[in-house]
Amino acid sequence: MTMEVLRTRGELERLDALRGQGPLVLVPTMGALHEGHLSLVRLATKIGPVVVSIFVNPTQFGPEEDLAAYPRDLDRDLELLRPLEVDAVFAPDVDQVYGQPGEVTVEPGRRAGGLCGASRPGHFRGVLTVVAKLLGLVRPDVGVFGRKDAQQCLVIDQMVRDLCLPVRLIDGPTVREPDGLAMSSRNRYLTGRDRERALCLQQALRQARRLILAGERDPDVLEEAMGRELAAADRPDYAAIRSVPELRRLERVQGRVLLAVAAQVGPARLIDNLVLEVRDGKVSETGLLDTTRTADGKE
Ligand code: PAJ
Repeated sequence: MTMEVLRTRGELERLDALRGQGPLVLVPTMGALHEGHLSLVRLATKIGPVVVSIFVNPTQFGPEEDLAAYPRDLDRDLELLRPLEVDAVFAPDVDQVYGQPGEVTVEPGRRAGGLCGASRPGHFRGVLTVVAKLLGLVRPDVGVFGRKDAQQCLVIDQMVRDLCLPVRLIDGPTVREPDGLAMSSRNRYLTGRDRERALCLQQALRQARRLILAGERDPDVLEEAMGRELAAADRPDYAAIRSVPELRRLERVQGRVLLAVAAQVGPARLIDNLVLEVRDGKVSETGLLDTTRTADGKE
């Protein structure tokens, strides 16, 4: 089976040959693929024919952010995807995705208000706008996203529910380096001392988990403990505990919760998180999205 590489909207017609061979699955990426992306692709291939999109979306980068520096190497990405039984790669240029300025955008809901939404104004509007376009162009039955970007998953989930988009979302677990650093295309900005200090995000999450296992349920105490670990970064952004899926502040840690951290380390803005189910004395790692929901929104 050959992997089709589609560069234009018109070429997407070729996806029609895949429809009907099982649920069509889209894995959206910005390229610079690593094992985290590839794990989502492997998960997707278990469901049905797979389309991977590779598009560095300019509208989700702030004016001071790394759009120009963001790594781009389509040939390498295609080589990584070829052995994985991907049916098609959609790699459009900006003109194929965006028309004239002043076009319609998707305004995120309440879930985008805090965490990365607070420190990256406009970021989730850019993410939702491009994801809505990709869903409209590819028309997949299933979309696969990484738990690593937990708020992104939940903001997209809210768009899909509120706009009644006919797609089922699945979140795949975070893939980490052997020392625990969550894989990210931005990790390649990290060298020497910065690479070592990047581990403080993971340490903050581990510390919070230890405290929860020891019975701590006060979110303020846990956030402070995570914040102390994050102080090793150049600019800690947040260390937060929120409810899942609403991303609300909690009075007490109970039920499904997101522990999330973000910090600038050297040249890289890094994020990481842990999703825990805390029920009575039991604490277990869990997913973000309700995978029992069907494409028509029924439970
Ligand atoms: P990108 O950062 O390339 O990530 C593409 C997908 O891979 C996202 O769903 C992300 O959560 C997932 N991912 C990244 N690192 C991961 C890891 N270590 N383990 C598991 N999954 C991981 O996220 C985006 O692109 C963009 O915002 C996009 C959704 C494509 C819209 O432009």
